Amino acid sequence: MIFVPSLNHGGVDVRSIRARDARPLRTLLKDNRSWLEKWEATIPGYPELPPVGDIIRSLLRLARQNQAAPFIIEHDGEVVGQITVSGLSFGSLSSGSIGYWISEDRAGRGITPTAVALVIDWCFTGLGIHRIEICIRPENVSSLRIVRKLGMRYEGLRRRYIHIGGDWRDHFCFAVTIDEAPGGLLARLTRGTANESLADIPEVDLVAARTPIL
Ligand SMILES: CC(C)(COP(=O)(O)OP(=O)(O)OC[C@H]1O[C@@H](n2cnc3c(N)ncnc32)[C@H](O)[C@@H]1OP(=O)(O)O)[C@@H](O)C(=O)NCCC(=O)NCCS
Repeated sequence: MIFVPSLNHGGVDVRSIRARDARPLRTLLKDNRSWLEKWEATIPGYPELPPVGDIIRSLLRLARQNQAAPFIIEHDGEVVGQITVSGLSFGSLSSGSIGYWISEDRAGRGITPTAVALVIDWCFTGLGIHRIEICIRPENVSSLRIVRKLGMRYEGLRRRYIHIGGDWRDHFCFAVTIDEAPGGLLARLTRGTANESLADIPEVDLVAARTPIL
């Protein structure tokens, strides 16, 4: 069972998701449909998102099985989005993958980078994880800014990697290991000392991502 902590910095709180988040999440997901649907993972053969209560139950089950750490993002005390560490594995890999979203009316205030930094620092220091990755669609300019601000290192292009909006989509993968973040990601984010160029994507991958696989 993963114990998901409450963490905060500068008006941004991340805490464990719970059953009573269904109501505010349902409203946010409905009001932000067009903002989110381009980036939301889908299940092949199922065009609709599952009901919010089912999503929360599934996330809590994965946390009980040591496979995920599901967080709610709050800003100034209001639920504004989600951040989830999924695909957690321990032992020789000790790795996980992060996904996130925030409501459109809170975008552009640096809330998500702060939330991601808080969660990655906890993964390294509290959970014993050694490496975290974030995979982003080439078209998602806003999300690509997050990994730059955090100084995450570009790892490569994953072709047709995640099912989104009814098809398999290419993703750029970025990662950080505990050794690359002495002092933590939040400290270097707030100081503005992250090495953004680590997230540079080589031209060959930018071109490949624009070229369909035969
Ligand atoms: C990607 C996302 C999480 C960024 O969160 P955020 O809290 O706005 O992050 P930031 O404040 O650091 O903004 C990141 C970039 O978004 C862009 N941005 C700012 N305001 C914006 C707005 N109102 N609308 C769209 N993009 C905006 C800017 O390029 C900004 O970079 P900058 O700070 O260098 O100018 C958010 O845009 C989002 O939830 N998008 C929809 C879901 C999604 O893409 N999830 C991630 C899938 S990998």
